[in-house]
Amino acid sequence: RRPAGAPDKELARPVTKVGIIGAGLMATQFALLFLRRLQVPVVITDLDQGRVDAALAGIRKELAGLQEKGRLDGDTANRLSGLLSGTVDKADFADCDWVIEAVFEELGVKQQVFAEVEPHLSPEAIIATNTSSLSVEQIGARLAHPERLVGFHFFNPVAVMPLIEVVRTPATDDAALATAMRVAKDLRKTAVITRDTPGFVVNRVLAKLLGEAMHAVEQGTPFETVVAAQQPFGLPMDPFVLLDLVGLKVGAHVLDTHHGAFPDRFFESKALHELAEANVLLEKDRKGEAKGIDKKAIAIVKR
Ligand code: 3HC
Repeated sequence: RRPAGAPDKELARPVTKVGIIGAGLMATQFALLFLRRLQVPVVITDLDQGRVDAALAGIRKELAGLQEKGRLDGDTANRLSGLLSGTVDKADFADCDWVIEAVFEELGVKQQVFAEVEPHLSPEAIIATNTSSLSVEQIGARLAHPERLVGFHFFNPVAVMPLIEVVRTPATDDAALATAMRVAKDLRKTAVITRDTPGFVVNRVLAKLLGEAMHAVEQGTPFETVVAAQQPFGLPMDPFVLLDLVGLKVGAHVLDTHHGAFPDRFFESKALHELAEANVLLEKDRKGEAKGIDKKAIAIVKR
């Protein structure tokens, strides 16, 4: 069944090489998924060769881990590792026909990286942004060809969450949209097409939950009470574990965007910015083990 608003799938362009801009946590998760599902060359770039090398090492370690668990055979793991490369030279993106960015969530930064990459791309290449709540149209404002830009919004953890929001701007053409839908299918994800509105659909709902949870603790409700009060919803993770997972900085940014767009409907959270700045986790340790609410986090919220 064709998803609502999807263009003719015949318009999808082939993807024979993937370019990933950014070498952080999201970017490395993308690289692994694209390698495993599309089995085409994947090149990642960042400003600094050290970051690129660290990301390549991290992805290769993940491949080795999958092999150890018996999820990949040795030949496939080696072949996928051979398809992976890294560069600081954007000219190495020349033969990529699908480019996705996962850089810092700031409009100017995203515009800048696309402005640097686009001149090297073929006219047919599709450009995707994983922004969680910025305007995709504004991200494409400096592109020579904004019709090739789509939002392609993954959820954490990328390997397991089944949904992708494909965001169409007023400029996005059918070929870009059809290619995004095909890529999502090849990644074995379910894609929905959303309008280019703040937070699209998922984060619009999530921002409500996270904003209310942070507002409650900032007003003096203990973290544990907010956690217990989520129980009737049967969520797989409470709001604070979810914030740990997506990153407090990303969470704070999502709240800011929604508060900026709809100040009477969404809370921003000063405490969340302070917590992100202090580099604490709310409820889990760096290995992902639940350890109860962090005492430092409680002290920061009480300030
Ligand atoms: N990375 C990779 N794989 C992971 C993982 C991770 N961080 N965490 C769990 N997994 C895998 C496990 O290996 C396991 O795979 P298997 O079944 O093939 O062995 C599978 O996920 C299930 O894991 P578990 O049984 O250990 O754990 P749970 O049953 O608790 O499920 C979860 C884990 C799927 C992450 C579940 O807790 C969940 O759905 N949490 C909610 C996550 C969520 O809401 N994400 C959206 C965040 S919003 C966002 O990202 C948008 C951004 O813009 C802010």
